[in-house]
Formats: sequence, structure tokens, C-alpha cells
Amino acid sequence: MAVLAIRTFGDPTLRQRAHEVDKVTKAHRQLVKDMIDTMREAPGVGLAGPQIGVLERVFVYEVEDDVGALFNPCIVERSSETLIEEEGCLSLPGLAYEVERSRSVRLEGIDEKGRSVSIEASDLLARVFQHEIDHLDGVLFVDRLDEETKREAMRELTRQVLGLPGPSTTAPLEERL
Ligand code: NI
Repeated sequence: MAVLAIRTFGDPTLRQRAHEVDKVTKAHRQLVKDMIDTMREAPGVGLAGPQIGVLERVFVYEVEDDVGALFNPCIVERSSETLIEEEGCLSLPGLAYEVERSRSVRLEGIDEKGRSVSIEASDLLARVFQHEIDHLDGVLFVDRLDEETKREAMRELTRQVLGLPGPSTTAPLEERL
């Protein structure tokens, strides 16, 4: 078991676009194992490459019995229906805000064995997929808040980065992605 260090707000890797994976190798399969260990240890329900300093388009997820990894994930369909739910992020510890996401999505990508896959997801799993794909594009969930709430989140993050005391909320386990 290998638990990797999770990058947090302020780390430039979180703001870069991750690269497509040409071929899924044995090294990638080991990376997926380590990412799943890291996600479970955190604990969280999703983890993307940039969060552990790997600028490749890969994320892992675990929602109830649904656990897996996806390379080069792409949203090919999304519902017009949206859901607003509280969301958190392992890279922004202590922050939780309501974010509007598509209720269901269909993803295409490559699994850890190198096979093309198509996955349909709704509710929490769909939210995890959208959140993790954002990570691969250097986007954090606070970017999806309205201006006023984003300013509040940024104040809290700045306080954390500077190590200043202040109010802090903790997202419930199932909302940390
Ligand atoms: Ni996250």
C-alpha cells in the first residue's frame, strides 16, 4: 500500500491542464493502485492525477461499491437537469459549498486495462466524475461558485495558506472528492 501526498490549494500543479495518456502501461496500473489507496486513506470518493502531482488525464473514484479508474475521460452526454449539493475537495480541506452540476452524465474513456469504456452515472457518482474532470483541466470547485461565495472561499483559503486562525467547516466524508 502506498499513500501519496495530496497537493493542496496554492500548489501550481492544481491549476495546470493534465496531458492525455497515449497508452495505459503497467506503471499506470500501479499509479491507479496508489491513487485508490490514497483516496481511501484520505478518505475521499474521488482523486485526480494533478492532486498527487501527476499531470496525466486520470482519476479514480469510489462511490459505494462502484470503484474504478478512468484515463482520458470525456463527458459525451449530460442531462439538462441539474442538482445543487454541497461539495468538498481533498485539495481544499475544510471547505464545503453548494455547487450546481448535471444530474447525470455519460463518460467515455479508457480503463486501466487499456479498453475503451462508456459509463453512465447519476447523482453523487455523476458529481464525482464532473469534479474530477475539472481537476484535469486545472479547474477547482470554487471556480464554479457565484462571485460572492467564491470571494468568501478565497478569503478562507488565503487564511489557511497563511496559517491564520479562523472559522472553518468540514465537509462530510461522502462529499470530499
Ligand atoms: Ni477535488
